[in-house]
Amino acid sequence: MEILTVDLGERSYPIYFSRGGFEDIGTLMQKHSFKGRVSIITNPVVGGLYAEKVISSLKDTDFFPEVIKIPDGEEYKNLNTVSSIYDSLVGSRMERISPIIALGGGVVGDIAGFAAATYLRGIPFVQVPTTLLSQVDSSVGGKTGVNHPKGKNLIGAFYQPRFVLIDTTVLKTLPHTEIRAGLAEVIKYGIIKDHNLLLFLEANYDDILKLGGGIDYAIKRSCEIKAEVVEQDEREKGLRAVLNFGHTFGHAVETLTDYREFKHGEAVAIGMVMAAALSYELGICNYGVYKRIKDIVEKFGLPVSPPPQITADKLLSAMEIDKKVIDAKLRFVLVKEIGEVVFHEIRREDFPLDLLGMV
Ligand SMILES: NC(=O)c1ccc[n+]([C@@H]2O[C@H](COP(=O)([O-])OP(=O)(O)OC[C@H]3O[C@@H](n4cnc5c(N)ncnc54)[C@H](O)[C@@H]3O)[C@@H](O)[C@H]2O)c1
Repeated sequence: MEILTVDLGERSYPIYFSRGGFEDIGTLMQKHSFKGRVSIITNPVVGGLYAEKVISSLKDTDFFPEVIKIPDGEEYKNLNTVSSIYDSLVGSRMERISPIIALGGGVVGDIAGFAAATYLRGIPFVQVPTTLLSQVDSSVGGKTGVNHPKGKNLIGAFYQPRFVLIDTTVLKTLPHTEIRAGLAEVIKYGIIKDHNLLLFLEANYDDILKLGGGIDYAIKRSCEIKAEVVEQDEREKGLRAVLNFGHTFGHAVETLTDYREFKHGEAVAIGMVMAAALSYELGICNYGVYKRIKDIVEKFGLPVSPPPQITADKLLSAMEIDKKVIDAKLRFVLVKEIGEVVFHEIRREDFPLDLLGMV
C-alpha cells in the first residue's frame, strides 16, 4: 500500500492508495488508534456495492459499525440531510471519540465531513472516496459543507480527515461519464502544475479511459499536487485558488444550464478551454498552449465549448454573480505555459467578447 502524507502540522494525515484496500480498513482504523463504535455514512448506491466489505473488515478488527444512509444526489447536499445525520448520531449516542467514515463520492464526503466537523464540536472522520472526482479532489484538502438554496457550497467548514483511503478498484462500477468528469480535474492538475503529467495523459489516454494501470499514477500524482497546494494555503487565502483553473467559466456554464446539462467536471472541461482561449487572447500564452489544452480535453471525450444559448453577455453576468468578483473586476486563473498559471483580473468592458467564437 502506497502512502502520501498531507503535511499540515498537527492536522497532517496520510492518504493510503491501494487496489482492494477496503479489506484493510479495520486495520487502518486500529493503526490510527480508533476503537469501538464507528458510523459509516453512505448512500444506497455506494452502500449497496461496498458497505458490506467495509463492515466486515471493521467487525473482524473488533469495531462496532453503524451505517447511516443518506439519499443519493447533489439535491440532497443540504442542511436537512445534515440534520438527519445528527439525529442518527444522537440517537445512537455517538461520542466525541467515535469516528465517521465517509463512504462515497464528493457529495457524501462533503456532507459527512461537515457533520463530523460540527457534531459535538468535531469528531474524527475518515474519507473513503469512491468516485474519481472525490479520489483526486474532494477527499483531500478539508473542504466540507453543503449547499444553500441560493448557492452551492455556501455553508461549510475547513475540517481535515484523519486519513484518506483510496481504493482504485471501485472505479470499475462507476459510470463512464463520472470517470470522464473526474479526468477533467486530473487534466487541470497537469495544466496548473505539472507538464509531465499532461504528457503522461496525452500518451496514455486510451489506457486511462479503460482504467488500466495509468489511472493509478494519474490519481496519485493528482493527490500529490492537491496536497502540495493545500499544504501552502490550507484556507484558500491566495495560492489555493490556482485549483480553480477553469472553474470561473465552468461555474457560469453550470449556472446557466441549471446544473442539468453538464456534470461539474464537464463544465470545468469547457471552462478550462475557455480560460485557455482567454489566456491566448490576452497574450498570456501562445496558440500552441491553447490548442494542446483543447486537444487533451477532446481526447478524453469531454466537451470543449458551451451550448449555443450561452452568449458572452450571459456568461459575464453569471460570472459577476459568482464569488470571484473583487472591486468590480473578474478574477481568473490563466495559463502561461503548461504547468504554470497566473492570476489575472479583468474589467467587464475589457473582456474579449469574441472569445466564444474561438472555442
Ligand atoms: N470538498 C471539496 O474540496 C470538493 C471539491 C470538488 C467537488 N466537491 C463536491 O463534490 C461533489 C461531486 O462529487 P462526485 O463527482 O463524486 O459526485 P457524487 O458524489 O454525486 O457521485 C456521483 C454518482 O456516482 C455514484 N457512485 C459513487 N461511487 C460509485 C462507485 N464506486 N460505483 C458506482 N457508483 C458510484 C454516486 O452514488 C452518485 O450517484 C459536489 O457536491 C461538489 O461540490 C467538493
